[in-house]
Amino acid sequence: MRAFPLLRPLLFSLDPERAHRLTIAMLKAMPRRTPVAHDPALAVRVGGLDFPSPVGLAAGVDKDAEVPDAFLSLGFGFVEVGTITPLPQSGNPRPRLFRLVEDRAVINRMGFNNGGQAAALARLHKRAGRPGLVGVNIGANKDAVDRVADYATGVRTMAPVASYLTINISSPNTPGLRALQDAAALDELLHAALEARGAATPPIFLKVAPDLAVQDMDAIARVALDRRIDGLIVSNTTISRPALRSAHAGEAGGLSGAPLKDLALERLHDFRRATGGALPLIAAGGIASGADAFARIKAGATLVQLYSALVYGGPGLARRIEKDMLTLIKDEGHRTILTAIGSDG
Ligand code: FNR
Repeated sequence: MRAFPLLRPLLFSLDPERAHRLTIAMLKAMPRRTPVAHDPALAVRVGGLDFPSPVGLAAGVDKDAEVPDAFLSLGFGFVEVGTITPLPQSGNPRPRLFRLVEDRAVINRMGFNNGGQAAALARLHKRAGRPGLVGVNIGANKDAVDRVADYATGVRTMAPVASYLTINISSPNTPGLRALQDAAALDELLHAALEARGAATPPIFLKVAPDLAVQDMDAIARVALDRRIDGLIVSNTTISRPALRSAHAGEAGGLSGAPLKDLALERLHDFRRATGGALPLIAAGGIASGADAFARIKAGATLVQLYSALVYGGPGLARRIEKDMLTLIKDEGHRTILTAIGSDG
């Protein structure tokens, strides 16, 4: 994958969705390698799981769990596949994925296109027993009559093959989905999800939107703490539009990448305050460098995830972030990452 500088112009000459399919196809064709070794100074524990590095691949890249091991071998400490819905669905009409090159951003309105849980389950069963943490992000089908039931189905179906499960109620591209972030609806949803899980594993994370008012965040934090979920992913894409320069700035959908960075960091601060540090936080949104990742760690995140920066930074990005984070950890006088978590006060 040292060929990325040569490959990037080719990928950028293609429609973004075709470029994405081609990338997945290339990763599939890669000879299988084991996950890389990580510096022990980066190890963290969340929800009873030992993460060898806090730098993870965010949901949406490997929606159908086709290549989690390839991403682990590129240096990610964990991979989140999905969003996967109970039944396959085709998502929104194309075009639905846009590169905003000048802004180092992406807008998407994919709409949970995915091959359904049965297919992903079969793929993940095949890799069972291999090293590396693979979380499964679950959602509801667009035309589901009972969305809560879809999440319960997702928990029951995917739990046996998931290192952890993420309940995604924050995609802006399934109409009405984000209403599940309201306190009463969220409480019912988490109750159903935890009941469907039964035993104490796998851990369950909740992924929230960045477009929330203070009282929404307080309510989400209260319900999440009461229901004792294992972590909060902050955040998904934004429907807000900070100043953008690219031609596709006006497209509908969720915005991610560099222009999301400040908002996602602010929301991380908000949720840290709202949870009083009692719930592990997983940061996502505009992370593109070791400095970005370390800033989230210091702001209280135990793990970080990224997607959009990969489009611009290429397959060596996770390793570069890890290396730069190690330097920052040592420069700031920490022996390991553990004492840096939340060190911003
Ligand atoms: C996403 N994201 C996403 N999240 C999720 O929970 N389920 C999904 O299916 C998807 N799909 C998806 C597709 C595309 C094309 C993008 C760009 C993003 C959101 C993603 O996981 C992440 O939360 C945000 O993109 C913010 O991180 P970055 O991209 O700024 O690093």
